[in-house]
Amino acid sequence: MTRPRVLVTRRWPQAVETKMAEVFDLTLNTSDRPLTEPELKDALGQYDAVLPTVTDRLPAAVFDRASTRTRILANYGVGFAHIDCEAAKSRGIAVTNTPDVLSECTADIAMTLLLMVARRAGEGERELRDGRWTGWRPTHLIGTKVSGATLGIIGFGRIGQAMAQRAQFGFGMKILVQNRSPVPAEVLARYNATQVPSIEDLLPDCDFVSLHCPGGAANRHLINARRLDLMKPGAFLINTARGEVVDEHALAQSLWFGTIAGAGLDVFEREPSIPDALLNADNLVLLPHLGSATRETREGMGFRVLENLTAFFDGRAPRDRVA
Ligand code: DGY
Repeated sequence: MTRPRVLVTRRWPQAVETKMAEVFDLTLNTSDRPLTEPELKDALGQYDAVLPTVTDRLPAAVFDRASTRTRILANYGVGFAHIDCEAAKSRGIAVTNTPDVLSECTADIAMTLLLMVARRAGEGERELRDGRWTGWRPTHLIGTKVSGATLGIIGFGRIGQAMAQRAQFGFGMKILVQNRSPVPAEVLARYNATQVPSIEDLLPDCDFVSLHCPGGAANRHLINARRLDLMKPGAFLINTARGEVVDEHALAQSLWFGTIAGAGLDVFEREPSIPDALLNADNLVLLPHLGSATRETREGMGFRVLENLTAFFDGRAPRDRVA
């Protein structure tokens, strides 16, 4: 029996590439160069499955072709706002993602950013490496206490809950939650969390706000100038969700004018490009989209794609079908 032709759009962990090659007629992107939209469009005519990731843009135009061979886009990653799922559906292409396996590591990075910005770790490290440290003194790089502070979580899915777990049980933080749908009482009780009706209700009461909602058009600039103004002057914003959720221009203004105390970002509107106003803000910690970047998680994501693909080509329902 001929094996399905499968394209992996970026380099994946070796262990997963090796296993995938045993099962499928696999094409790897050994140069790891992001594919262009025309290349992705072309791939839809040549492969039974295309395995994209967050760096691949698949808008409606990519699906606009005379004949399509691809039957499944098995995305490597939980977020899939880079894929026009309606356009995929209209061509009869299934879409899957990789939830669960990255929740803990993404929450770890959110907590890393929160601690770094609150305790001014980035500033301290830059000072030390530049040879500017003059020694201990009582007034040096005074930060903000994390333990016992109030954390607002916007988006209370798996990653939001993993963040609440860390904040509640590691740091005794008080947890407020804003979520599109009501969160079951037993889930809130697990983290001693309280759900509030709107983002407007959440922001003024929080010392830290961490974003864990999906990206895409619906949430573009969810955090804008008006909402940043609702935050306390001593509060911090953390974004490990998607860059487009925060209006970067408005955030830069808030950081420069001190209307909030600081921010930690792992994701950006136009990755890998970052506006100078953010790069030069000292009260901002920046990471290069590292949320899921551990060996365990990146392998877990790959094996989850393999599981979805195997089910699909065996004629079973893939576990993580999103369209
Ligand atoms: C995702 O999974 O959507 C991340 O952003 C990449 O890990």
